[in-house]
Amino acid sequence: MRPGFYAALALTLLSHLAVAQSHPAPQLAVTPPMGWNSWNWFAEKVTDRDVRQAADLLVTSGMRDAGYVYVNIDDTWEGTRDVNGNLHSNDKFPDMKALADYVHSKGLKLGIYSSPGPKTCARFEGSMGHEDQDAQLYASWGIDFLKYDLCSFHNGVMRKEHPGDSPEAMLLQYAMMRDAYEKMHQALLKTGRPIVYSLCQYGFDAVWQWGPEVGANLWRTTGDITPKFDRITLIGREQAGLSKYAGPGHWNDPDMLEVGNGQLTLDENRTHMGMWAMLAAPLLAGNNLSEMSPEIREVLTNREVIALDQDANGKQAERIFAEGPTEIWSRPLSDGSVALAVFNFGENMSLLHGIRLHLKEAGVGSGWRARDLWAAKDLGPIKDESTFALKRHASLLLRLSHY
Ligand code: GAL
Repeated sequence: MRPGFYAALALTLLSHLAVAQSHPAPQLAVTPPMGWNSWNWFAEKVTDRDVRQAADLLVTSGMRDAGYVYVNIDDTWEGTRDVNGNLHSNDKFPDMKALADYVHSKGLKLGIYSSPGPKTCARFEGSMGHEDQDAQLYASWGIDFLKYDLCSFHNGVMRKEHPGDSPEAMLLQYAMMRDAYEKMHQALLKTGRPIVYSLCQYGFDAVWQWGPEVGANLWRTTGDITPKFDRITLIGREQAGLSKYAGPGHWNDPDMLEVGNGQLTLDENRTHMGMWAMLAAPLLAGNNLSEMSPEIREVLTNREVIALDQDANGKQAERIFAEGPTEIWSRPLSDGSVALAVFNFGENMSLLHGIRLHLKEAGVGSGWRARDLWAAKDLGPIKDESTFALKRHASLLLRLSHY
């Protein structure tokens, strides 16, 4: 044979390997991104001071160490463009670079927000026609995450260009939308900085089917969340069927957390958090960290619940049973165990007798044991007929493992 040829081949392979090792392919959002976002609590009032304080509190509350590392500024930071088209932040954010340096000094990452349209949803400056310039600006500040919200691109651009609701018009509108998202994707790539790319267009055109093609690391699957149990659980339940679209690097986003907001009870907060963890959803807290009660902190930082969300397999849960107000969802985990959630969405206490846990459907056979994650308690062997009492809006979150 030709030994020289094989030696050359081996050398080539080795050098490729060396190159691959010295430049490991950056892989963003390998698990669902975790952090905090300003919108759900501060909305348009957010300031530099609030963001710095949120960064401080993520550290002192233990949230950073539990995995919440992104500090995301939502809409209303934008100022005006100068004669060269360079965007400046407004008076509420006097120095973005200094803010990014501060957030980074705490071991956290900084996120920002814009729109493919001329205006954002709160009518601030959007990125249309300035995609490259804005992406370069974010990179120069040290931004690590961009939420890109459709807003005025919908009515002001795509529906103006192709009016009407006919299937033909909508196809053309949606093609424009995709192009706009791809444009910012390319602009972000050109910066050379790893920036998590978060699409926000409320699920139009089954975004989960094409989000990864435009470089999305996460995409909103629904309209806005509010701190109301019915809204939260409607959104959560609408994720049924979407598990096949999620995985490392690209996630379905049922919107930011409302844990600790509004008048949610402890059971409701746990149901919300547990549901999002089952769904391998991004966990972006949206509460006022400076007034967080110990109870809410415990819900947000429960390590065993977070471990479900952040499981390396990234397999989102699916619904395996629904009867009236009761639903059971399950997801397989990377160590061979299975997460099972039983939800009581109803208004009354429910004694789950006569409702099987549907263990077989969850891939659980005989000889398995259960751990109740909210109670932090081992329950021992689990049977399909095990009976539980669930209060109104409460849920049972189990981690099941083989003996
Ligand atoms: C909405 C978006 C919210 C928030 C808001 C800011 O479209 O869904 O999450 O970003 O805009 O104006």
